[in-house]
Amino acid sequence: MDKPFFPPEMTTLADTFGRVHSYLRVSVTERCNLRCQYCMPEEGVPLLPHSEILSFEEIATLVSWLASAGVRKVRITGGEPTVRKNLPDLFSMLNRIPGIETLSMTTNGILLADQLPELVKNGLKQINISLDTLSPEKFKTITRRDGLDRVLNSIQKALDYPELEVKINAVAMAGVNDDEFADLVNFFKDMPVELRFIEFMPFSGNGWNRGGFISKADQMKLITTRFPLIHLGFNESGTGTANRYQVQGHPLKIGFIASMSENFCSTCSRIRLTAEGSFKSCLFENEELDLKTPLRAGISKNDFLNLISDRIKEKKKQHGGMDGIASNPGRPMVAIGG
Ligand code: 5AD
Ligand code: SF4
Repeated sequence: MDKPFFPPEMTTLADTFGRVHSYLRVSVTERCNLRCQYCMPEEGVPLLPHSEILSFEEIATLVSWLASAGVRKVRITGGEPTVRKNLPDLFSMLNRIPGIETLSMTTNGILLADQLPELVKNGLKQINISLDTLSPEKFKTITRRDGLDRVLNSIQKALDYPELEVKINAVAMAGVNDDEFADLVNFFKDMPVELRFIEFMPFSGNGWNRGGFISKADQMKLITTRFPLIHLGFNESGTGTANRYQVQGHPLKIGFIASMSENFCSTCSRIRLTAEGSFKSCLFENEELDLKTPLRAGISKNDFLNLISDRIKEKKKQHGGMDGIASNPGRPMVAIGG
């Protein structure tokens, strides 16, 4: 294959496998008001003092530098982003950065309803809300907290904004919610949302084991007994992570995120910034690059972009597979942000 051609301003964010990284995920806190089993240990994770977390001004500076090198989409994650004070102010700052075209967020929906009007006003365009079950008891088992009503209310409120793209994230777990996949499809079948089933991934402290894993192929079997699915493929640009299907006879689209059974590393366009200002060129990369120290020491934009560029050039072709990751799981998910 010919070497891919990139405009000069894009080479900073290109790796040695031809992937250009235009999508930045920013974790704004390691705190969360839920304790999802697949994400963190029951006792929570050690929390950093506030001074070790990047300020909104610092995040905006890093985003503007990355935008000048080609980042076009930013997703705000956590922990749970809505527990960070004054979150809509960050959206307003990011929304003014030249080059940033799409602001999105992943949330558990517990505190979302009240914050939505300001978030949307300040530029939020796409939102992913987590919902793994429709049963209040099971919600409590999975998240170790109450709150299903609040999440459902937030989903309903999000649908009041026709311009807001809404996705629902369900982590698929054998023996936990596999009896509900078709029920979730039934619940959302006539709503303007995309329902996404995510393969359960191993992270530190989340009790992952092969027995709890259910592949996309097996998830589909459980759904298609009730709802025939028409294959649509990955999104328009081909860089999406969800393999999408149309529910026959209904508006609902379903996306399967098969990061374990059919990894999509070859089209990855994502880079990540953790809440304390470390850079990750891959979700499963364990050696992070500290950006906070150089930022607070006054690094220039050019030196910063050189650091990032060098790091991205070291990005591996693909992750080590389910067992490779499980044997060396790195941080808990709550401290990465998905
Ligand atoms: N496997 C798959 N997805 C996960 N998430 C969190 N932990 C895991 C895991 N172990 C996803 C949830 C949530 C988002 C923050 O990350 O879907 O919506
Ligand atoms: Fe919190 Fe989200 Fe992790 Fe659940 S998955 S504990 S809501 S950060």
